[in-house]
Amino acid sequence: MDYWPIRRPRRLRRNSIIRDLVAETRISAERLIQPYFVSDEVTERYEIPGMPGIFRETPDQLVKSIEDDLKLGIRRVMLFGVTDDKHADARSAYADDNPAVVAIEKLRDQFSDDLFISADVCLCAYTDSGHCGLLNEHEVDNDESLSVLAKMAVRLAEAGVDWVAPSDMMDGRVGAIRQALDDAGFPNTAILAYTAKYASAYYGPFREAAESAPQHGDRKSYQMDWRNRREARTEAQLDIEEGADIIMVKPALAYLDVISDVAAATDLPVAAYNVSGEYTAVKLMAQHGFADERDLVMENLTAITRAGASIILTYHLRDMLREGWITS
Ligand code: PBG
Ligand code: ZN
Repeated sequence: MDYWPIRRPRRLRRNSIIRDLVAETRISAERLIQPYFVSDEVTERYEIPGMPGIFRETPDQLVKSIEDDLKLGIRRVMLFGVTDDKHADARSAYADDNPAVVAIEKLRDQFSDDLFISADVCLCAYTDSGHCGLLNEHEVDNDESLSVLAKMAVRLAEAGVDWVAPSDMMDGRVGAIRQALDDAGFPNTAILAYTAKYASAYYGPFREAAESAPQHGDRKSYQMDWRNRREARTEAQLDIEEGADIIMVKPALAYLDVISDVAAATDLPVAAYNVSGEYTAVKLMAQHGFADERDLVMENLTAITRAGASIILTYHLRDMLREGWITS
């Protein structure tokens, strides 16, 4: 056939030197945050089922792990507290012996400002019901939960956290936390808001990690319905008005449309949480030889970045640096 294509996009795909030159999206360690689980009920480091390489560990063990990770090039972390000290009023969330509080104090002491520390703000690890807010007779009580969330945020700020990350999905919590932080003298502690957090099946492995599964019912009365896309813009607008510094979408991979919408709707930095179930899916595929782990991880994180997230929370970060898939 003597048809001669005028346009030849393949010219820019000829070899890797050219492909790297024209690549639109790059993944770098500076934009990635590694999550950790810090617990007061383990003595041995405990590897989480379904999440190889991810542990529940004591505050002292965590300091050691993070010391190693810093050498590897991880400078940004997100902490989740895990405890069996659970009560209806979630009082252990803001107690001095909350394992996240204990760990942050040690980390700040040891690493000063070399380490950027963020921490989750939610009640599900501290309530006996396993719900993200306090219960009244009928339901999760939005407004009663706000003051406890605000107290927890202030306690984390006192311990030395850089950012607090409310993941509870109560209405008004960003504003309540902002006001409490300001009143307590922490105007520079930023809020990474879980703005569009969906009631997702992809949190399965995390709930085992954080021992935070609801004892009855589900989280659909506060987390978003996955059938809704436009509603995420409402949530974003509210969090921005209430003073959020960063807007987050969670999970990431099944919600790329939402990341893209939110990124178009705000000039604030947009984050995405590459959640536990997404991590487990990759690990299982790779373990069974169905795909190359590096390729899966890079493809997933590139998709999340392409959609519009500039910050990604991912359990893969340590492997990525250790295996040399990215450099620090
Ligand atoms: C708790 C919380 C969850 C996650 C982060 N904070 C679980 C949930 O809402 O049930 C999920 C993280 C992950 O799956 O990696 N509010
Ligand atoms: Zn929660």
